[in-house]
Amino acid sequence: MDKIVSLCKRRGFVFPGSEIYGGLSNSYDYGPLGVELKNNIKKVWWERFVHRRDDMVGIDAAIIMNPKVWEASGHVKEFYDSLMQCKKCNSIFRDDEIPGFIVRHDKYDAGKVKDLTCPECKQKGDFTSPTLFSLMFETNLGPVKDRKSNVYLRPETAQAMFVDFKQILDTNPRLKIPFGIAQIGKAFRNEVTPGNFIFRTREFEMMEIEYFIREKEWKKWFDYWLDEMKGWLRDDLGISDENLEFVEIPEGERAHYSKRTIDIEYQYPFGQKELYGLAYRTDFDLKAHFKELPYRDPETGEEFWPHVVEPTWGVDRSVLVVLLESYTEEKDRVVLRLPPKLAPYKAAVFPLLANKPELVKLARKIYEDLRKDFTVAWDDRGNIGKRYYSQDEIATPWCITVDFDSLKDKTVTMRDRDTTKQKRVKISNLAKTISEALVL
Ligand code: GAP
Repeated sequence: MDKIVSLCKRRGFVFPGSEIYGGLSNSYDYGPLGVELKNNIKKVWWERFVHRRDDMVGIDAAIIMNPKVWEASGHVKEFYDSLMQCKKCNSIFRDDEIPGFIVRHDKYDAGKVKDLTCPECKQKGDFTSPTLFSLMFETNLGPVKDRKSNVYLRPETAQAMFVDFKQILDTNPRLKIPFGIAQIGKAFRNEVTPGNFIFRTREFEMMEIEYFIREKEWKKWFDYWLDEMKGWLRDDLGISDENLEFVEIPEGERAHYSKRTIDIEYQYPFGQKELYGLAYRTDFDLKAHFKELPYRDPETGEEFWPHVVEPTWGVDRSVLVVLLESYTEEKDRVVLRLPPKLAPYKAAVFPLLANKPELVKLARKIYEDLRKDFTVAWDDRGNIGKRYYSQDEIATPWCITVDFDSLKDKTVTMRDRDTTKQKRVKISNLAKTISEALVL
């Protein structure tokens, strides 16, 4: 983990936020390479789950919604963490962070607390009783700060997909259950204990789908979306099976709206923890927001309350796991073996020698041409070996070098990040070669 954090800072993937002011508790900024990686993850997700499907549409809703949304959705009442403080060292924990695990206030058992050990000072049995802490950030709309102007920053993107349900149906008459609404966007949670780099922050991004179905088919669709999530992890992020665990969340520990939840957990260096979630939200949300049936089948005229299966993906956790999976140290180099389609740069172009104008001119032309189709890096500093290693560390799959032969035979060397093997490729074939390698 330390190596990933340090690589991210050194090469400009992720920096501590507001650093020149001493930072701000666990806030991070994505730098030039990080934003490319993150955007690629979002782009591949959107292509897979929205563009390539007939049964999906996307939205991009406002972050601040009418506060009545959060009252109806149950978040004002239910979206809290239960905190306990160790009386000996004053450290504060979410109750699920204390080994022994007390889930919610109503299950608090003073007898059981005596057996719990403080994760910080390792002393036994001296905790305050749990207090509840709302995870929703509040702010005010307009110049007057009073209860009427009070609003929330959304803690999940999901609610807009429910609130806009009718408008989406009315404007897309081809939509027919089963269908889904997808959204990528920021969410905010006033986490009590953020930490582990970008794993748990107070401001983060999610990619969510609300998939609307007939109640009697929920099990089928739940299994279907679990498979789709596995497919995404395997095909698009390249995550190895042995680092994943699919955990059934028992009743009492599920979110207030869920009748079944599976957490997809990952073996992070700091322990096995949630990566993504899949929930069967029933008709809870639509019923909370609509008084009248919001759905009528366009062919049969049948009216019913749609039920919802919700697969949800954290963007920042996706970035973290692809970095963890792809970081490799070899004898003389560090290689980030990201799937090429996620790599910030698809290629890097070098003139063999920076002081030979004829090489620079041709290399520059290749660089400009490739940039029309791909993100491409340029480097003419130091020796070629150093330039290769520098690109390996930021995952660039192919390095293209223009040498003296290039001037004669219009070919360049193309070096593969993973194998380090080089081949000569015609300049006129470069774009095609890269495109073909990207779809593999
Ligand atoms: N609409 C369902 C929902 O919000 P969630 O499990 O609370 O479900 C969805 O959050 C995903 O968002 C998680 O699986 C995780 O990937 C990510 N996530 C949640 N809290 C986070 C945080 N504080 N920092 C970074 N990512 C977070």
